[in-house]
Amino acid sequence: MDYFGFEGKTVVITGAASGMGEAAAKMLIDLGAKVHAVGRNKPIQLPVEKTYYADLGDKDAIDQLLTELPDSIDALFACQGMAQTKDNHLRVQLVNFLGVKYLVEALAPRVADNGSITIISSNGGFGWQEHYEISKEVIDCGTWEKTVAWYEAHPDELKDAYRFTKRCLNTYVQYKVFDPLYIDRKIRLNVICPGNTITALTDEFNRNTSPSGDAEEGRKKIEALFQKRWNGRWASAEEMGYPLVAIGSKMFSYMSGQVIFFDYGLTSVWAIEELEGIKDHFTPR
Ligand SMILES: NC(=O)c1ccc[n+]([C@@H]2O[C@H](COP(=O)([O-])OP(=O)(O)OC[C@H]3O[C@@H](n4cnc5c(N)ncnc54)[C@H](O)[C@@H]3O)[C@@H](O)[C@H]2O)c1
Repeated sequence: MDYFGFEGKTVVITGAASGMGEAAAKMLIDLGAKVHAVGRNKPIQLPVEKTYYADLGDKDAIDQLLTELPDSIDALFACQGMAQTKDNHLRVQLVNFLGVKYLVEALAPRVADNGSITIISSNGGFGWQEHYEISKEVIDCGTWEKTVAWYEAHPDELKDAYRFTKRCLNTYVQYKVFDPLYIDRKIRLNVICPGNTITALTDEFNRNTSPSGDAEEGRKKIEALFQKRWNGRWASAEEMGYPLVAIGSKMFSYMSGQVIFFDYGLTSVWAIEELEGIKDHFTPR
């Protein structure tokens, strides 16, 4: 049985040179998909159908990529993402949210009936409901240019830059699930929200979590915040890449508009804390 249904199917996957995207691309190849893999600078080492390189935070580069990608796609996986630093707050919006939205909306008309679009968000996007109105404002800007103008006019909203992008992604799939672009042809739209995972981004997350920029100090801080309370561990890239592929496959043919957390229950604890009136999830307990 081809339970996943990827045999001979055309798949586009971004962020495919490393981490979760690479793990997902490997699995898709094993499942018999024709994989069109998009990277940035780092070479894609996998035996894919075709490789592409583009800056997915740049509208012109995405427009050029769109002229090269296949006309017909069965499943799209958007895995690109970058960490926040002290001075890249706008750039993070363009790569992690606007670039994803722009690419997904441009490619949706090429996705086959009953196809799927699956995006990597983050458990940093937990609590997106409380920020629904502001995220909706960003989504409703419509064009690339109007969205950039909104970002430029709202610098305070971008201070928590990385989590802002992930809340916007989580909002997007729930807000847009019945948009004619998707529902008219039954294209499923979901995001996964990983917890702390060892990938090419880990060192950067660690450095940015330390006030002095020390990766080891940041790692300890992240472990104390997110793993100590459940005697936890970091996930591997495969532990995110594999469920991503499963959700985009025919195994999940009746699931759409969902924000699924892969963090071993950490956000379930946060949800209970919210119900009990404890709001600060970023203080060790
Ligand atoms: N690692 C974690 O702990 C963690 C936790 C939650 C969410 N995430 C999210 O998971 C996704 C995958 O990241 P990862 O952890 O596998 O890290 P990674 O760095 O290995 O993968 C991210 C990929 O995105 C690509 N990318 C970055 N900027 C790009 C740009 N401007 N244009 C095109 N491609 C670009 C990179 O080339 C890279 O291959 C990201 O969206 C990230 O935000 C990661």
